[in-house]
Amino acid sequence: MAGDDVSIHGSWASRWVFILAATGSAVGLGSIWKFPYMTGVYGGGAFVVMFLLFIALLGVPVMVAETLIGRRARLSPANALKALAVHTGHGGKWSWAAFAGMVTALLILSFYSVVGGWSLDYILGVGAGNFQGIDGEKAGGYFAAMVDDPWRMILWHSAFMLLSAGVIARGVVAGLERSLRIMMPLLFVLLLILLGYSLTTGHFMDGVRFMFHLDPSRLMDGLLPAMGHAFFSLSVGIGSILIYGAYMPKQTSITGTVMAVALLDTFVSLLAGLALFPIVFAAGLNAGEGPGLMFVTLPLAFGNVAFGQLIGVVFFVLVAVAAWSSAISLLEPMVAYLVERTRFSRLWVTSALAFGCWFVGLGTVFSFNIWKEAKFFVTDGGAFQLYQWGAAGGLDLFGVIDFFTSRIMLPLGALTFVVFASWVMGRDAVRDELAMRNATLFAVTFFLMRYVAPLGILIVFAAQLFK
Ligand code: PFF
Repeated sequence: MAGDDVSIHGSWASRWVFILAATGSAVGLGSIWKFPYMTGVYGGGAFVVMFLLFIALLGVPVMVAETLIGRRARLSPANALKALAVHTGHGGKWSWAAFAGMVTALLILSFYSVVGGWSLDYILGVGAGNFQGIDGEKAGGYFAAMVDDPWRMILWHSAFMLLSAGVIARGVVAGLERSLRIMMPLLFVLLLILLGYSLTTGHFMDGVRFMFHLDPSRLMDGLLPAMGHAFFSLSVGIGSILIYGAYMPKQTSITGTVMAVALLDTFVSLLAGLALFPIVFAAGLNAGEGPGLMFVTLPLAFGNVAFGQLIGVVFFVLVAVAAWSSAISLLEPMVAYLVERTRFSRLWVTSALAFGCWFVGLGTVFSFNIWKEAKFFVTDGGAFQLYQWGAAGGLDLFGVIDFFTSRIMLPLGALTFVVFASWVMGRDAVRDELAMRNATLFAVTFFLMRYVAPLGILIVFAAQLFK
C-alpha cells in the first residue's frame, strides 16, 4: 500500500501530467461559467474577496489533504480512507464519507453535463454565424430559446455525457494527457483575447470596480456560497483530487503542485470575470442575471470582433473540453471504486454510472422549461413551504441540487478529508508524505490543515445558520 508507485489504476507519467490532470479537473465550468454568474448574483467584490480568502485558507489545505491521502493509500477514496484508518487503529467507518462524496459527484455531474451541453450547442450557434452583429436583446433571446426547448437540451446533454464517458471507459491516463496538453494553454490564450476585447468596450474599469470593490453590506449574503464555490472550483470535497493523488509519483512535491493548480484555477476565474463584466456593463445587461450570464454576454464579443466567428467556435470548443476534463474527474472516483470492488469491467461500470447521471440531469434540463414553476423551499410571503408550483421565490430543481451539493456536501466532504489527514493520520504521516524541506513551512501548512480549515468551515456554517 503506502509507498509503492504501482497501483491497479496505473500512474501519471510525471508530475506535469498530475498538474495537467488536476488543473483539468479544477478549471472548468466552475471558473468560466459559475464564478462570474455567482459574482454577479452575490454582489461583486464582497463575493470575490471572500472567494479568494476561502481558496487560500480553506481550499488549498483541503486540496493538500486530499492529495496526500490519495498518494499514501493509492486507492479509490472509500478504500483509501478505510485502509488508512484501519492502518492507524481507527474504524473503517470513515469510508462512508467517500460514499457520500460519490453521490455528490453524481449529482454535480448531472447538471454539469447539461451546461457542458450548452457549450456544445453554442459551438454550432457561433459557427453558423448566428451571433454576427448581435445585440444584448438578441443574445438573451438566443439563450432563452435554447433553454426553453427540452429536446434540444437533452440532445446536447446526451452528447456531452457520451463524450465524457467515452474517455473514462478507455482509461483516464491516456485519454486525458493527450488532449489537455494542447487544450489548456489554448484556453488561456483565448481568455486573454477576450480580455483584450473587453478592454476596448470602454467599461473595463467598471468591471474591475464591480469585481473588487468590497461592499460590506453584502458580505454575509455570499459567505456560504463563496465557501462552497471555493471547494467546487478546486474540485475538492468529493474525492476527485484524492483519486488523482493516488496516481501521483512518489517523489513529487504535493504542496508545490497543489499551489500551482490552485493558482492557475483562480487565475482563470478572475480572467473570466474580468473578460465578462466590462461587456455586461457596456451592453447594459444585468450582472445578476444568473446561470445565463456567460452565454448571453460572450456572443456580444464574438459577434462584434474581427474573426469573432472563428474565435467563438474555438472558445466554446475549449470550454467544452475544460468541462469535459472536469466531468471525467467527477466520474473517475466512482469508476475506480467499482472497478476495485466488483467484477464488472471498466466499460460496463462507466456506462451504468453515466446513464444514472444522465437520467438525473433531466431534472436540470426541465428546471429551465417544463418544470420552471416547480419551486422548493419557498419562504416568500411568510410561511415556509417545502414545495409550491408557481411560487415567486424558492429554488427550482437545479437550484436545489446546486445548493445541496455546493453548499452542504462539498464543505462537509472537505471537512472530513482535512480532519482525516491532520487528526486521524496525524502529524508524522503528513510530514512523511509532504516531505517538505522547510520546517516552518510545514508547520504553517499543518496548522492550516489541523485548525484553520476545519474551524473555518464550521464557523461559516454557524454564521449562515444564525445570520
Ligand atoms: N472544479 C470543477 C469546475 O470548477 O468546473 C468542477 C468540479 C470537478 C467540482 C470535480 C468538483 C469535482 F470533484
